[in-house]
Amino acid sequence: MDKFLIKGGQPLQGTVAISGAKNSALPAMAASLLTAEPVALHNIPRVRDIITMAKLLAFMGAHVSVDACPAADYCISAKTISHAEAPYELVKTMRASILTLGPALARLGIARVSLPGGCAIGARPVDLHLNALEKMGAEIHTAHGFIEAKAPRGRLQGGRIKFEKITVTGTENILMAAALADGETLIENAAREPEITDLVVLLRKMGAKISGDGSATLRVEGVQTLRGADHTVIPDRIEAGTFLVAGAITGGDLTLLNCEPEHLGATIDLLRKAGVVTETTGPNRVRVRAPRKLNAADVTTLEYPGFATDMQAQYMALATQAEGYSTINETIFENRFLHASEMMRMGANISIDGHRALVHGPSALSGSTVQASDLRASAGLVLAGLVASGETIVERVYHIDRGYERIVEKLRAVGAAIARVHGQSQ
Ligand code: UD1
Repeated sequence: MDKFLIKGGQPLQGTVAISGAKNSALPAMAASLLTAEPVALHNIPRVRDIITMAKLLAFMGAHVSVDACPAADYCISAKTISHAEAPYELVKTMRASILTLGPALARLGIARVSLPGGCAIGARPVDLHLNALEKMGAEIHTAHGFIEAKAPRGRLQGGRIKFEKITVTGTENILMAAALADGETLIENAAREPEITDLVVLLRKMGAKISGDGSATLRVEGVQTLRGADHTVIPDRIEAGTFLVAGAITGGDLTLLNCEPEHLGATIDLLRKAGVVTETTGPNRVRVRAPRKLNAADVTTLEYPGFATDMQAQYMALATQAEGYSTINETIFENRFLHASEMMRMGANISIDGHRALVHGPSALSGSTVQASDLRASAGLVLAGLVASGETIVERVYHIDRGYERIVEKLRAVGAAIARVHGQSQ
């Protein structure tokens, strides 16, 4: 297994280009199952989860090519779908495989997806996805570890769906299913993440009739068939937020290119409270400059437009360097503080009480060997390593490779002393 070796203490300076959003690219790729025509997708990040999704679509019978369409990153053609199935081997490495359920069921009237298990950050059930599909007429059974779904007479029916809890991939699954269902679907308490809006933009290009994007109520008028499309996914707001923290925590001066400042509102607000200076220097550029002293600031993770749970571990790394007590409330996932104990091993002063973490800073972190437990936790540990004295080894970086494109190269280009050490394959 690969590791990262980090020598902390270097201020990061220069420019860094932000990649396309993994969490927009995944539903966009799944949406290609809705049409027999090719879908060309640009700005797809080259990360492990994308490779997993490409493998899954190919397993289902789609033709997936990289750089085949003119100037496209991915061109997916699901002319025929031979297996409407997501096998355990792929689902276990990436829960977002559940995104194939809605489109496959809507297109073929039948789909079989392995039940995702729990993951490090909590139980993460898919009951909301399944209940909503049942409201659209699907008959769903779980047997032998698989979700088996069938639409009577091969077509889903529009319906009124009110999510009990806001779910990002749940909203995406239902949007895709509803686009090809008979009649109108009303989705209430829908997620409002920019990735949802990006999916709606793509689905509209494919011929879907959707209104209300950006709000909590989406209205979808199903159509008989959808067509191919050409789409560029939005920039990754979590990668951008991670680099903002990297600039701030190392006493640096970084400019992010190809980002969408509008999607960074909650992160920028929090960083400003902590004393960090950020400035939008162009339509897709944000500059971050570290203050002489970081101040403690409290935060609660929330659905968009609130502060993203996917930025919580990175903010915790920053809070260890801020003066005073920062309270971090995690409201989205039940067990998302696994990075805290690793940061404590580096010398951070953190106490956890259920869903709340209290960070007392500043602490002089010292380089240690730490283990990544999930994608964003690993980003938090890398950030902690960038300010720690001496050498930090981050193990199990396969987690970070799931979602950060060329992170070592990007960090090195702005002055970080970080290297990947290749280990034995798993
Ligand atoms: C998506 C993101 C992930 C992010 C998360 C929250 C993708 C591919 N992943 O994950 O990076 O951390 O949103 O912003 O876009 N829940 C249920 N039942 C369900 C579905 C969800 O109880 O059927 C719960 C979850 O356990 C969690 C909460 O709802 O507590 C929100 O989860 P959800 O928005 O669904 O997360 P994902 O879509 O899996």
